Formats: sequence, C-alpha cells, structure tokens
Amino acid sequence: MKKAKKNAVKHLDIATTAIHSGRHQTLERENSLPMFLTSSFTYNSAQQASDVFAGEEGGNLYSRFTNPTVTAFEERIAALEGGQKAIAMASGMAAISSVFLGLLQAGDHMVLSRSVFGSTINVANNILAKLDIDVTQVTLRDLPSWREAIRPETKLFFVETPSNPTLEMVDLEALAQLAKNHGILVVVDNVFCTPYLQKPLELGADIVVHSATKYIDGQGRVLGGVIVGQEELLVEQIFPILRNAGPTLSPFNAWVLYKGLETLPLRMERHCENAMEVAIFLNRHAKLTGKVNYPGLTSHPQHALATRQMKAYGGLVCVDMGNKKNAYNFIDRLQLATITANLGDVKTLVTHPASTTHAKLSEKARKAAGITPGLVRFSIGLESAKDICDDLAQALE
Ligand SMILES: Cc1ncc(COP(=O)(O)O)c(C=O)c1O
Repeated sequence: MKKAKKNAVKHLDIATTAIHSGRHQTLERENSLPMFLTSSFTYNSAQQASDVFAGEEGGNLYSRFTNPTVTAFEERIAALEGGQKAIAMASGMAAISSVFLGLLQAGDHMVLSRSVFGSTINVANNILAKLDIDVTQVTLRDLPSWREAIRPETKLFFVETPSNPTLEMVDLEALAQLAKNHGILVVVDNVFCTPYLQKPLELGADIVVHSATKYIDGQGRVLGGVIVGQEELLVEQIFPILRNAGPTLSPFNAWVLYKGLETLPLRMERHCENAMEVAIFLNRHAKLTGKVNYPGLTSHPQHALATRQMKAYGGLVCVDMGNKKNAYNFIDRLQLATITANLGDVKTLVTHPASTTHAKLSEKARKAAGITPGLVRFSIGLESAKDICDDLAQALE
C-alpha cells in the first residue's frame, strides 16, 4: 500500500487533516481505505522473510506487530494530535497499561491524579504495586501538591483533563513545566477533549493516550486505544510491549476508528453546542441551580482555564442529585438518554459513576475523587438539543 499523493500537503486545518492524513492506496486505486484482514504477510523467498524479520527490508510481518489498516489509523491520529508517532492498542486501558509498563520499572514512582478513570486507578493500585512501582495520588488542579509529591525516583505524571467524571482540570502548560524541571514525563489522557478541543503535546506533555472507544469512534461500535508522542520514546519503550505482550488493535476496529476520525471535528462541534445548551437548561431548573457541573458555565471553578486551554467545553455534563435515590429516580425516568457506562456516542448517554465506572474503588477513594452518591454523568449526543432538554425536563418533574 502506497501513501496517497495528497498527504504531501502541509499546514491544513484540523477538519482537512482529519480526512486527508494517513491516506494510503493500493494498486486498485480505491478511494476509501481498504481493510487488511490478515494475520500475517507473505514473502517471495526464505531470504526475503529473513530480511524483513531482521529489519533489513521494510514491510509487515505479523498483525500483532503492524498491519497496514492499523498503520493508517496511527498516522491519522498522530497528525491530529501533532505527535511524531502513534501506536494503536486494543482498548484505552490497553494503551494506559502499556504506557505504565513501557515507561516504568521496579523502584520507580509515579504521581497520578486522583480524578482519573476507575480502571486507571485500579491498574495503578493493584497491578503496578505488584511490580514494586510506587504511586502517589494528588488533587488534579492543585499544582503545589504535584510539586510536593516529586521524589528522586519519580518518572511519570499521569492526568486526565477534564477528568472523568468530575470535569476538573489542570493547567497543562504549568504542569509540563514543573515536570520538565525535574526530568519527569507527562502523560495526558485526552479522551474527553480529543485533539479537536485540546492538544496536550503542544502544551508540553510528552505522551497522549486515548480510549478511541469514545469520541474517536463516536458511534459506540468498537473498542480501541492509542498512544501518541515522540517517535524514539514510543518505538524503544512502548512498541516492545505491543509486539511481545500483544494488546493489538484489530484491523477491523482500526478501519472503523480511521473513518470515525473523518467526522470528528464536525461531531465535536455539535457535542459541545448541545452540551452547552443542556448545561444552561439544567442550571436554570429550579431543582438544580448550582448543582450542574460543566466547564462552559461561568460558575465552574475552572471556567477561565477551560476557556484558555480548550477550544470548546466538551460533551460531558454532570449533575449532583443529592443522593443515590434521587439519582436513580432521575436516570430511570429518562426516555431518550440510554443508560450505559460508555461516552462519546451520537446518542445521549447517562450513567451513575459511583455504582458503575467507579464502583470498584473504595468509598474513601471515591470520596477523595469527588464522586458523590448523587452524581449523574451525561454524555450529550448529537440529537436535537431541544429534544434532549425536553426529556430532562419530564424526568425532573
Ligand atoms: C477517561 C477514560 N480513559 C480511559 C478509559 C478506558 O477506555 P477503554 O474502555 O477503551 O479501555 C475510559 C473509559 O471509559 C475513560 O473514560
């Protein structure tokens, strides 16, 4: 498969990059990326096989390592994030775990935001601990606590900004500067923003990870993950995890995600517009004023940072219903929103984080992460904003 000619065009807008980056064409001259559903690749001679395995000749070997459809997806997301290279993985958690396993070793220390996805905390607390990798959890927005947590053996800072589901943020430029001063790498889970809303690498981060399952797919179809960053770091420290441990993205899923990226800018704009309308609607509701959490509301404690750091405010809106009973009643009365733990779908989705995505955390850890029993998280979809608000209104009656 050859690179399509138009790849040579430089300085394109993100909407164009989403469609024209990572374009490849076979001799069939197809206009849409082909799907290479093959486990392995063939050679004309034993010598050629040996040369390709030895890296003396280019080419694919085995789809656990590389596959042309997966490579096209990797090139496209790398172009969008502004990274030198991307490595696709089977899921967001495969990407996050591979970053930890690739960059950390026994005796190392990581500083982790307290406000991250539940499984990320579980990997840090249960799996890294077994490997003698120590983790300190700190409050995301509290820069002095990141500074205080640094030790001589600290190798990594890991954040999600905005965080899931508390929509808390950190000043990425300031955090990256602090890390740089101490030779620490910064990893950002950019799931809630996607490169359309925020580019952590431009703000000084070293690595971006994604659950591509979310907005990159955008239609709730497949699982996927990806790691983007500096070529040397990814090739030397993370690629061996993919090659040998095998958390590989399937070519079918890579194709779906590659096509998903083509509409990402358009979808993110609409997600953000709808979420803003929903947040304003909920915040005006007599029962909920002051209980709505959305970075686009001026009442959000970090609204100014969100305005500076992000292009728009994202598609996630949270509301605190006061207690679990109220939260469950509200969720159960919704007719349009689907009850599911996913996010970033065309459909509006609703979840109760304390009993789903963060249920495996101890009550103390949930409290520390700000996940209250009444918290309800909406991933606002692409339906008409009026219809979403009408559904919320009837559920609140
Ligand atoms: C912020 C964040 N990071 C990582 C993940 C894990 O992604 P995956 O389910 O693709 O493994 C999720 C999943 O919800 C998430 O919300």
